[in-house]
Amino acid sequence: MQLAEKNVVVTGAARGIGAALARRFHAAGANVVLADRDGVAEAADGLKGAVEVIADVGTEAGNVALIEAAEAAFGPIDLFFANAGVGFAGDPMSSEEVWDASFAVNVHAHRWAAKHLLPGWLARGEGYFCSTASAAGVLTQIGSAPYSVTKHAAVAFAEWISITYADQGLKVSCLCPQGVNTRMLEDGDELGGGTSANVVRLAGAVLEPADVADVVVEAIDDERFFVFPHPEVGDYLRLKGSEPERWLAGMRKLQRRVTEAG
Ligand SMILES: NC(=O)c1ccc[n+]([C@@H]2O[C@H](COP(=O)([O-])OP(=O)(O)OC[C@H]3O[C@@H](n4cnc5c(N)ncnc54)[C@H](O)[C@@H]3O)[C@@H](O)[C@H]2O)c1
Repeated sequence: MQLAEKNVVVTGAARGIGAALARRFHAAGANVVLADRDGVAEAADGLKGAVEVIADVGTEAGNVALIEAAEAAFGPIDLFFANAGVGFAGDPMSSEEVWDASFAVNVHAHRWAAKHLLPGWLARGEGYFCSTASAAGVLTQIGSAPYSVTKHAAVAFAEWISITYADQGLKVSCLCPQGVNTRMLEDGDELGGGTSANVVRLAGAVLEPADVADVVVEAIDDERFFVFPHPEVGDYLRLKGSEPERWLAGMRKLQRRVTEAG
């Protein structure tokens, strides 16, 4: 899909990958709505005509309000990018709050957006849903069960709607990066530590958000489902598919290295 003059919503657009996506889509000529739970003024600075919406996408009402605000500003949404996400270190003993927040933002937000966008898209015979999952959604996240589980669910949801509605005109892409140089990588979220920046660094290159945004625009242009800004993620996924026991053994080895590194 060509982005010029398309109506595009990006969630989690206040900073990091979302801010870079919004900037890149605006440069491609799209009408951009930047949404985040806090202000997006800094990210929207210099993006002429862009619309800022404060919305908590971790609730259904927040998604509905966002979609209504975007449609009031520009008309029907052509592309919705469910990018907002939270990352906490965690395990099965982590608090219910950590697990609930992970599911709300990393999974249910995608479902709620789709729930309220799909009827219009199916009636029009077109619509584009993009989500930011993670390499953790096809592989794993050492040190975080909530992140691994919810990002797998995000990939599963994107796959499901792609399979089910492709013949009715829906396009879907799912962004699955490894390390990207954002606040999530450094600090995590307010509920707890990040998804282990040292793990990500042990696992491979850390990209800049703008580089990720360039890869996303190419993928949208090609209408490609999986977006792997780190190409090695595709190799790891192939290894996981062909030799799952070897892949698991490799992940356990990485887990030991992380434990030893402290
Ligand atoms: N940084 C990485 O290494 C990395 C790797 C793979 C995937 N991701 C994913 O990329 C996406 C963007 O993360 P980032 O790296 O730019 O991190 P970030 O922390 O810089 O940005 C995340 C944004 O999401 C927003 N957000 C969180 N909860 C929200 C809510 N309930 N409602 C509205 N906005 C909310 C935050 O306010 C923030 O602006 C996330 O889905 C993340 O899981 C990041």
